[in-house]
Amino acid sequence: MKLLETINNEFSEGRSRTELGSGVDHMVFTATDDSNIVYKLGPKIAIDYWFNDFKKNPNLFPKVYKRGRTTFKLKSEKSIPTKKGYKTFPVGTIIPLDYVKLEKLDTDRVQKEWDLLSDISEEIREIDGYEFLDFLIVYMTWRPENKERGWNDDATIDMFDTEMKKRGSQIYKLFRSYVDLVDNLKKVKPGVPDIHRYNFGYDKNGKLKCLDF
Ligand SMILES: Nc1ncnc2c1ncn2[C@@H]1O[C@H](COP(=O)(O)OP(=O)(O)O)[C@@H](O)[C@H]1O
Ligand SMILES: [Mg+2]
Repeated sequence: MKLLETINNEFSEGRSRTELGSGVDHMVFTATDDSNIVYKLGPKIAIDYWFNDFKKNPNLFPKVYKRGRTTFKLKSEKSIPTKKGYKTFPVGTIIPLDYVKLEKLDTDRVQKEWDLLSDISEEIREIDGYEFLDFLIVYMTWRPENKERGWNDDATIDMFDTEMKKRGSQIYKLFRSYVDLVDNLKKVKPGVPDIHRYNFGYDKNGKLKCLDF
């Protein structure tokens, strides 16, 4: 969806930009004159949800360089989160938004790695279409009390550890890098973080980070 019409401040006229993606709550742009940076725009309430955690944990999330306010005019009707829940605003409404200037991560590398880890996960579980995400969900929702309810995720988790190890140190290291990051995310946001292949990326030093939760 191309919602953006006027963005002031850093996005002022004449500065070229490319839309990288937009989810339910945010729009993300790169300034094409600086490939190391993205601008993430969203309602204040959406930005507040992650901003402080990102700022406090630059090892887990893209570095935060700046936060500011801007406005834009809706080009199509849009449902936007407000303090009173989602509200639909008509075309032409000028809405205030916050923006954050963030470190840009490499997301292509993650796509390739997820394909590889998904192939291996399917092999390990011997279930058609079983993906790495399926394993991560098992891993994240693991609780000691599940066992009492007859749910043995320990076996799956142990099996993945053993089988990933068998595939060599490079694969095992890759597998662990995602699992370790997910462990750390759980500490920052208890409950189940929003993990899927489009929410991760690598920084310039090759560190895996989470770009959205
Ligand atoms: N720091 C970043 N570096 C590179 N790409 C990003 C970054 N932040 C967001 N993106 C891209 O924009 C998309 C949408 O951003 P995201 O933060 O996931 O917003 P939403 O909450 O709307 O899902 C992401 O899936 C990713 O492709
Ligand atoms: Mg996202």
